[in-house]
Amino acid sequence: MITYYENERLFKLDTPNTSYLIGIVDEENFVGHIYYGKRLLDAEASYLLRTQELPYVPSKNNRERGAFYDTFPFEYPTGGVGDYRESCLSIRTEGGHAGSMLSYVSHEIMAGKPGLTGLPATFGSDKECETLKLVCEDVYVGMQVELLYTAFSDVDVITRSVRVVNKGKEPFYLTKVYSACLDMDNRDYDMITLHGSWARERHIQRKPLGYGIQRTSSFRGESSHQEHPFLALVDRHTTQEQGEVYAMNFVYSGNFCAQAEVSQFDFVRMSMGIHQENFCWKLSPGEDFQAPEVVMVYTDQGLDAMTGTFHSLYRKHLLRGKYKDKKRPILINNWEATYFDFDTKKLLAIAREASALGIEMLVMDDGWFGNRSFDGCALGDWFVNEEKIDGGLAHLVEEVNKLGMKFGIWFEPEMISPDSALYREHPDWAIAIPGRPGTQSRQQYVLDLSRKEVVDCIYGMMSAVLRSANIEYVKWDMNRQLTDIGSAALPPDRQGELYHRYVLAVYEMQNRLIHDFPDLLLENCSGGGARFDPGMLYYSPQIWCSDDADAVERLAIQEGTALLYPLSTMGAHVSDCPNHIVGRVTPFHTRAAVALAGTFGYELDVTKIAREEREEIPRQVALYHKYNDLVREGAYYRIASYSQNHHYDCWQVVSEDKRESLVTFVQVMTRANHKSRRILLKGLDEKRRYRIYVEGQKPEREDGELVYSGDTLMKAGILVPDMLGDFQAKLIHLVAEESEKKGQVE
Ligand code: GLA
Repeated sequence: MITYYENERLFKLDTPNTSYLIGIVDEENFVGHIYYGKRLLDAEASYLLRTQELPYVPSKNNRERGAFYDTFPFEYPTGGVGDYRESCLSIRTEGGHAGSMLSYVSHEIMAGKPGLTGLPATFGSDKECETLKLVCEDVYVGMQVELLYTAFSDVDVITRSVRVVNKGKEPFYLTKVYSACLDMDNRDYDMITLHGSWARERHIQRKPLGYGIQRTSSFRGESSHQEHPFLALVDRHTTQEQGEVYAMNFVYSGNFCAQAEVSQFDFVRMSMGIHQENFCWKLSPGEDFQAPEVVMVYTDQGLDAMTGTFHSLYRKHLLRGKYKDKKRPILINNWEATYFDFDTKKLLAIAREASALGIEMLVMDDGWFGNRSFDGCALGDWFVNEEKIDGGLAHLVEEVNKLGMKFGIWFEPEMISPDSALYREHPDWAIAIPGRPGTQSRQQYVLDLSRKEVVDCIYGMMSAVLRSANIEYVKWDMNRQLTDIGSAALPPDRQGELYHRYVLAVYEMQNRLIHDFPDLLLENCSGGGARFDPGMLYYSPQIWCSDDADAVERLAIQEGTALLYPLSTMGAHVSDCPNHIVGRVTPFHTRAAVALAGTFGYELDVTKIAREEREEIPRQVALYHKYNDLVREGAYYRIASYSQNHHYDCWQVVSEDKRESLVTFVQVMTRANHKSRRILLKGLDEKRRYRIYVEGQKPEREDGELVYSGDTLMKAGILVPDMLGDFQAKLIHLVAEESEKKGQVE
């Protein structure tokens, strides 16, 4: 709910448990941030703007205007006229000058949430959210800035975005446009961010916030393996279960910057937006720029509550398409099974064996097109290599379909190999700085998607392949980051737009794809999980989480990913052993237990694995069918973290009605001379009584397993006996007694 208090000149945005207050002050109409936190019953807190303290507002004390600018909590700070904290907006006029300041002009409060042109964004019906549009201006520049705030009524989320319009007579340049800012008092915060590398994405980092600027960012052209468009400031005593959290997540897949700056007065400015590096957007008179959306979450209930809020928001208000709430087909992907060495015969042999074991879809990965026999050629030549796929693609797909399986295919549409027919014909289609040899990565260049003819050509080839056979899944990959930012088609004063134009074009292409092929299951991927972000989730309901599917490495990766994103979105497979990336050998059942926390599938040659493992697959398939509704739709709780305790990992999902729960316990390293481990469960109904089953283990008593109340299970916990051997996993199923009697749960 959003209310405007006219006398106080104050806006109050309420979600079920939070409030956000904005005030308009002084004759110059500065837009100030008053409060964000636990829900307030009234709207009296405008004293937090400190306008009654020195240096006062400029109308009372113009000799200290600079000091006012440098301390006032701005909703959307601009740079160059006195606020020395980092701004959210920088401009350069035709005269070469920076400097701007915004004043409130008008506002509009509307039901629902408008879409953002060309960009992914959360959505909601008129009943589910309300939006405030604050229109501000800088008359000297001729700039109008619209600040958009949406407050949701079913989740504790406020989203923000910004649109800048040139209302003047001369062009000006945007050299920085962030999307959100929070100016608050610092209260001894820690900062939580996600970091990693290829095959090691999204590890959680927590550290104390100190004076100055602390930032996490990417200017790699994508959200990246290395850092993540997420930042949380949490009270130093915040745990999973309690404590304050202020979190921001960026609904964008390109360069980003997320930072917190603690100033001389112990104020903190938390901000997020497109990274400034190499960004310069020209706005001619009448033109506008839409900045992407930031999702803000506040809770005083700890990190589990923050996670729950993000999961609910993304499930209800971001994911789209036929599969968003559906069980996904169990797939088998041939990448680690064959790499580039495959043909129709090999693929069909895998499919035959897989279908007999209950696997539902074959995905043909990299290597089926042009003369692609290794990773150094043919990207851009999106036509089927019939020497490998003998009999043609339609034939292969028909044969797979005859086995009762669906068929999926891999593309890397954004790339071009120097050794490709496409490059030989159009060398200027690669992103490059004229006259400078481009930096190759995985022996490839990135296509200049800011050019419509490039997008049309690639999309044309892709859609022709997709129309040529019954293809029901696409893995959209992106295997290198951007360098040598230059477009042969953009004029010099628009070269600084390329990074963002590139991202817009990726969105446009994916939109076209899901519009033209509405039944397609799209899975995004970027060298594993380099573009696992809310922007891409708007187009694909799942994203390949990491190229590393080792059961132990995946614990930290999936913990970090699930901190923000629903388990239904995490691409996770049982892969080959010894693991191709770390060489570790883990039991087959443990690899499955970890993959069951995501979309689930296989990434190995099912014709070559040991007989016992093959025989285990139908049991794993059955587990997937038994638990996937719960995993996909349930509330997720973090119980223990191997990254922190170095011995074991544990997470839990609980059905919405709290009648059923699944606990996954992974004992990474065993211990000599040990006792059982006590873990406290979460999210159960304290009054219900739950029967406990351990998968693969016979109940100890004839009349079933032990039964305890939710209250006992959450406060006193359960005991998990140590298992013999490293890398062991247990799936513990809790079923509320009355559900069993009514036969609601098998
Ligand atoms: C990336 C993906 C892999 C695989 C290869 C193919 O690394 O993450 O899963 O598709 O590309 O080249």
